[in-house]
Amino acid sequence: MTQEPQGRSDSAASTVQKDGTLSVTDNRTGRNYDIEIKDGTVRAMDFRQIKVDEDDFGLMTYDPGYTNTASCRSAITYIDGERGILQHRGIPIEELCEHSTYLEVAYLLIHGHLPTEEELSRWVYDITHHTYVHENIKSFMGGFRHDAHPMGILLASVGALSTFYPEASDIDDEEQRNMAAIRLIAKMPTIAAFAYRHSLGLPYVYPDNDLSYTGNFLSMLFKMAEPKYEPDPRLEKALDILFILHADHEQNASTSAVRTVGSTRADPYTAVAAGVAALYGPLHGGANVAVLKMLQRIGSVENIPDFLETVKQGKERLMGFGHRVYKNYDPRARIIKSHVDEVLEATGKESPWLDIAIELEKRALDDEYFTSRKLYPNVDFYSGLIYEALGIPTEAFTVMFAIPRTSGWIAQWMEMLRDPELRIARPRQIYTGPRDQRYVPMSER
Ligand code: ACO
Repeated sequence: MTQEPQGRSDSAASTVQKDGTLSVTDNRTGRNYDIEIKDGTVRAMDFRQIKVDEDDFGLMTYDPGYTNTASCRSAITYIDGERGILQHRGIPIEELCEHSTYLEVAYLLIHGHLPTEEELSRWVYDITHHTYVHENIKSFMGGFRHDAHPMGILLASVGALSTFYPEASDIDDEEQRNMAAIRLIAKMPTIAAFAYRHSLGLPYVYPDNDLSYTGNFLSMLFKMAEPKYEPDPRLEKALDILFILHADHEQNASTSAVRTVGSTRADPYTAVAAGVAALYGPLHGGANVAVLKMLQRIGSVENIPDFLETVKQGKERLMGFGHRVYKNYDPRARIIKSHVDEVLEATGKESPWLDIAIELEKRALDDEYFTSRKLYPNVDFYSGLIYEALGIPTEAFTVMFAIPRTSGWIAQWMEMLRDPELRIARPRQIYTGPRDQRYVPMSER
């Protein structure tokens, strides 16, 4: 059996060696089958021919949580979880963080290549000029309770966008698809910032087209009475890097949700709303919130050993640690960690939680429980500390993840629509309930 990390994308050179066949003997019948191996993968449907008799449905594969099932072919993001490698369209994440910007990475993900100067300025112009939302979206958002969770507001508002752009349901029209991509990337920060201002009872701040994508977002979050908000370039840059780091991560839960809903030919706003919904959960995008709450609960460095003991007893999880794909240090966590100090310096704040996080990481990485299970810090372990330093309330951390992930969701949705093998996502089940029961009238129950 080939030993390969999960979630890999294979190079053409290694594909040659991995092709071949798998000989299977069904010990129930004694029959032999040759199953094709392509790209280090067998097709689940090839097992359907394996039957005990003609009435048999055929063999299925069982994979709860899809831990070893590839659901699509994709040329967007490569991850080697064993070696801690992340690349978008083949470019390492470290290079993108050093030389690129979030909007350029969004273009790269969606269009498959780095833009020329002209393509980039057109792209930035288009996104900058679609940041406004319809006034009725604003009124719609005004209907939420003052303490509504910003992810709940975002989820509902992104879903509502589909009713404002019904033409987006023409998903076979390339122009409509591109328009929806621009609108979603442009409006996500506006909706997110409005949701934040809503929770504080502050008036919403309209987008400022003179500012960069992240500068404008900071303005919509924090502008008060000053005539013009001037973002600190260090914070603008740090946020941009965080956005690059969150832009795409291949077939994770939220991206799979976008693809699943998109496979029904729903419009892109509805498909992306499904992504927001999946990201809401504490095991996915909600983990950055859970990390900060965990650090607050631990309270001080002295309490770390007791806390780790409860984790090892299985009573709770060390949030921000572990990953389905990375069985090594998440490369995004390393980059974020290197920016925490910079942001604290720019904001002039001290994080009471940073020392706890550093010590917690150190101890966990020294502990057999975590090393034997290959549990390392993931992207969420340090991102919350930066968001907190930026003055973002804990409840809004997951929204900070949803904004940049939108470009990945759209890139994956567009790729899916072009896939000749696309079929509606419809898994099978192993039925375990009763059969052929009689309906019992109420009086006899
Ligand atoms: N703390 C303690 N133990 C853990 C943790 C953790 N954070 N993560 C996994 N384990 C243990 C499990 O208990 C299990 O141990 P066992 O074999 O003794 O039963 C083993 O490690 C394997 O764990 P699984 O749950 O099978 O791993 P899976 O791949 O299904 O889960 C997940 C991955 C959900 C990310 C998990 O590691 C987790 O819950 N982490 C904390 C939440 C988190 O940080 N999520 C963010 C992920 S990154 C993102 O979504 C952007």
